[in-house]
Amino acid sequence: MKTYKRILVTSALPYANGPIHLGHLAGAYLPADIFVRYQRMKKREVVYICGSDEHGVPITIAAEKQKKSPQDIVDYFHFRNKTAFQRFGISFDYYGRTSSTMHHETSRAFFRQLESTGVFRKKTEKQLFDQKAGMFLPDRYVCGVCPVCQNDSAYGDQCEKCGSSLSATDLQHPKSVLTGETPVLRETTHWYLPLGDWQEKLQKWFDEKKHWKTNVVGQVKSWLQAGLNDRAVTRDLSWGVPVPLEEASGKVLYVWFDAPIGYISATKEWAAEIGKPDLWQKYWQDADTRLIHFIGKDNIVFHCIMFPAMLMAHGGYVLPDNVPANEFLNLEGEKLSTSRNYAVWLEDYLQRFAPDPLRYYLAVNAPETKDADFTWKEYQQRNNGELADILGNLINRTLTFTAKYFNNQVPPRSDLDPMDQEMIQLLNQAPGQIGDLIDKVEIRKATAAVIDVARAANKYFNDQEPWRTIRSDSKKCGTTLHICLQTLRALAILMEPILPFSAQKLYQILGYTDTIQTEKWDDAGDCLLPAGRKLGRAEILFRKIEDQEIESEITRLKRAGNAQTIDQKAEEPKINQIPIEEFAKIELRVAQVVSAEKVEQADKLLKLLVKVGDQERQIVAGIARHYSPQDLVGKQVVVVANLQPATIRGIESNGMLLAAQDESGKLSIVTLEQPLENGARVR
Ligand code: MF3
Ligand code: ZN
Repeated sequence: MKTYKRILVTSALPYANGPIHLGHLAGAYLPADIFVRYQRMKKREVVYICGSDEHGVPITIAAEKQKKSPQDIVDYFHFRNKTAFQRFGISFDYYGRTSSTMHHETSRAFFRQLESTGVFRKKTEKQLFDQKAGMFLPDRYVCGVCPVCQNDSAYGDQCEKCGSSLSATDLQHPKSVLTGETPVLRETTHWYLPLGDWQEKLQKWFDEKKHWKTNVVGQVKSWLQAGLNDRAVTRDLSWGVPVPLEEASGKVLYVWFDAPIGYISATKEWAAEIGKPDLWQKYWQDADTRLIHFIGKDNIVFHCIMFPAMLMAHGGYVLPDNVPANEFLNLEGEKLSTSRNYAVWLEDYLQRFAPDPLRYYLAVNAPETKDADFTWKEYQQRNNGELADILGNLINRTLTFTAKYFNNQVPPRSDLDPMDQEMIQLLNQAPGQIGDLIDKVEIRKATAAVIDVARAANKYFNDQEPWRTIRSDSKKCGTTLHICLQTLRALAILMEPILPFSAQKLYQILGYTDTIQTEKWDDAGDCLLPAGRKLGRAEILFRKIEDQEIESEITRLKRAGNAQTIDQKAEEPKINQIPIEEFAKIELRVAQVVSAEKVEQADKLLKLLVKVGDQERQIVAGIARHYSPQDLVGKQVVVVANLQPATIRGIESNGMLLAAQDESGKLSIVTLEQPLENGARVR
């Protein structure tokens, strides 16, 4: 197999016309994130790119339905989705948007290049026109009867029932989605990409892809067998990237022409942001790049035929090494439906549950080779039976035992018996085995293999009976616990790609202060946790989910109502409102940290000396798990300046430092967007 110098990973750019649901996550985002997190720990050069797809009919139809401008819609959902992904731990290096100037320039230049080298075919043809709305009806603006399967709600670009890709004029009994009118035919000129011209090259390239998934291979084969046709890459619409030709004024690029170029423009923006503006070229134009597109199955033709043909036509770009498209995720046996609001929305989920259990269930039940079903019952069973009872149990029993009998320190290891040796060998092999599976994007198997390590360690714990050896042979008991603790370190690293939040917590409990991402994957099984290391306090990493909670989720689903719009803020709960006078009593001020030190015997606390105006004060803050003293010195922070003094662990504290913490436990102090004078009032 070819060896690559760097990896470029993309996830399909979601349309910014609605929020993110489980189907999205299972298809294109979670598998990619697991893959990328693994590659980062392998210390490979990898960049993970995504962003909002802000053009096309899905956006303008959403805008029309909600009586908003397309810009309002995309602004709203771009930021909302970006945040939701982040809260779920999807670790994009860059999340762009196709309305950015960089994107408009990049996609226009791409079009111009193809135009100037004579790639396109320009054709004037009759297309459907809605006289009442005064506009052409491309793609999803028209629906009618599918000529292939007779489904009566097929769209102008595709029949969702039989999967056929259609042209609007193929539909029988077409009706305008906007007005319900029967459209008339009117002439218009468009630029077509003659995919047939690349058929041979595509076929040759595709024939080399022996490692592709069978579901992807199947679709691509049948497209190629049917023979490739010309595809219009321009549209008569007002929302989109304007076609960069004078004679095409009033026309925009087809969304499936500009959106995949979004991967390139977002990579350019990423490179500029990290101060290496030319680096994008290495990723896109150097043959040593392994390019991987993570998508759902409805996007296969665009990523395996159309975009590669565009890249070939342009020249100078790498082509994808793999397009590991997933099948669909159903919900309680039914198809997800955004328009019927039949979905589990990510943000909604995160209001009641932690991200990791969902990441786990979607990973172990990923729709890799066939459609998969999400059920709340199975979610609960997997969480309680696997995360809590296997992984969580191993973590708990190991840590509680160590705390109780070994002063919460890693006991030294002495002579090894065959069971010890077997366990250590299992640890040595796990990173290679699990890593290979992730590298092949076999996420289901990789996830199960992580749990298997914990399962084996539970058996090891039982078989060694440390509760007995603690009285008969305390050295042997220490060895058992030593090896169990090494297993926890191994597991923390091995589970990081799948369960990043819990992995980080476990890593900290094991007494590490860095982020777990500084670890090397290949060292995970090497027993590197030093004997004598003082451990932190055990906490429950995976709580059990009660029947009641699951029942209320199922009821919620049955109540599925209207689709998600941008005017739903009114539904959010109003929390304890207070009059402004109440707020004015709190004196918030800008302060600068002069010095900081850890508080002995209190591993959560830092003692800070801050300057508020020209007055110095001492503040005790519970942030030591998240910040080390040197991170803080010199920083401008916000403090409550008129808080009554308090004594914390015998130390006087004169005020309070503001910090925010999210559900995952991540904490950030509140800082200023630009430097201000110390003592400035915050309101
Ligand atoms: N927005 C499309 C969808 O949700 C995916 C676009 S992927 C890209 O189906 F390659 F075009 F960016
Ligand atoms: Zn059909």
